[in-house]
Amino acid sequence: MEKTILITGGAGFIGSHVVRLMVQKYPGYRILNLDALTYAGNLENLKDVESSVNYEFVKADITDEKAIKKVFDTYKPDGVIHLAAESHVDRSISDPLAFIRSNVIGTVNLLNAARDLWGVNSEGKRFYHISTDEVYGSLGATGFFTEETAYDPRSPYSASKASSDHMVRAWHHTYNLPVVISNCSNNYGPNQFPEKLIPLAINNIKHNKNIPIYGKGENVRDWLYVEDHAVAIDLIFHKGQNGETYNIGGNNEWTNIDLIRKLCEVMDKALGRQSGESAKLITFVKDRAGHDKRYAIDSGKLMKELGWEPSLQFEEGIEKTVDWYLGNEDWLKNVLSGDYSNYYAQQYDGR
Ligand code: NAD
Ligand code: DAU
Repeated sequence: MEKTILITGGAGFIGSHVVRLMVQKYPGYRILNLDALTYAGNLENLKDVESSVNYEFVKADITDEKAIKKVFDTYKPDGVIHLAAESHVDRSISDPLAFIRSNVIGTVNLLNAARDLWGVNSEGKRFYHISTDEVYGSLGATGFFTEETAYDPRSPYSASKASSDHMVRAWHHTYNLPVVISNCSNNYGPNQFPEKLIPLAINNIKHNKNIPIYGKGENVRDWLYVEDHAVAIDLIFHKGQNGETYNIGGNNEWTNIDLIRKLCEVMDKALGRQSGESAKLITFVKDRAGHDKRYAIDSGKLMKELGWEPSLQFEEGIEKTVDWYLGNEDWLKNVLSGDYSNYYAQQYDGR
């Protein structure tokens, strides 16, 4: 194999799309997926590539310093694409420490392991940290986050991600670690855990359950199809400049209420329901504490410097997403019952 690329969090939503793309596109790379298989990690997401000769899975927790050192000593990765994280804002409000452990301490363990392995001879190596637009805080009615926007995280989740971004930059400046960072907007698409807005709403609509909309549904998010994010990650990993940051967004802003109304229309069609039927399930509930008002990303740097652009229009992306969830009822049932993660976690325990 030409190179070993360690992808953390590869059993999660975005990570599984990145692993698949890398395994299929680069047969000369050994793709090593490291994941703790938390509630959000599910190897079922990678069934179609798990027997590829250039794919390997290792169950490890990035908060476990010794385990991470052992993985680096054993596999000697040439590159790291770091996605493993606690990712859900609502969970960070009820259990912030879990986010500090995985997102901050876990990232530092990986940075140290990469620094110790690569030392001063880091030519051709790369540590790529995947981050979020939430580090920039909340926008008013106008304007966009650029790479120069000052950090202003406002939830335990975004504060933990901002903190990990600072650690990555500190390791670059202090230890000369070759790093690159990207900050992306809201992703949607197949395999997203149904605690996040879109898959949660799809699942509830299907089962005729209320769709909870926080506050008045006026908060704005910029949505990007997950495969377009994976393509951007591949591009930045291979072509990005060391020490640089790239923003990634869909240029696709929706208020939550408009997004859910659109989703309801698509679901009505897909389920053969009368138009307007699913929208009756919309229920306004208590707002999220500290709920950021608006996120919007300026991806101009990535588009101009590396030639990336999103491939899908939102209408097409949301239809594909609905089709996927309706065609994968067992996946949905199993992640909600925890069956797959328990099954796979047992398979890999003690490795
Ligand atoms: P996810 O919650 O679906 O998956 C996270 C994965 O990380 C899971 O497989 C989980 O098992 C693993 N993991 C968690 N803690 C771990 C630990 N301590 N050790 C090893 N593995 C661990 O998350 P996602 O939505 O796919 O997000 C992936 C990354 O992208 C995160 O870093 C997130 O901050 C970032 N991001 C997400 C979005 C989004 O819209 N989902 C947008 C921008 C950036
Ligand atoms: O912007 C990037 C971020 O997007 C990522 O870094 C996070 O990992 C990812 O979870 C996502 O964060 P959000 O908080 O924006 O996503 P979520 O799907 O949880 O919520 C989207 C919007 O919908 C948000 O304004 C809150 C609202 N919401 C969410 C849920 C789960 C509801 O109104 N009802 C809900 O039940």
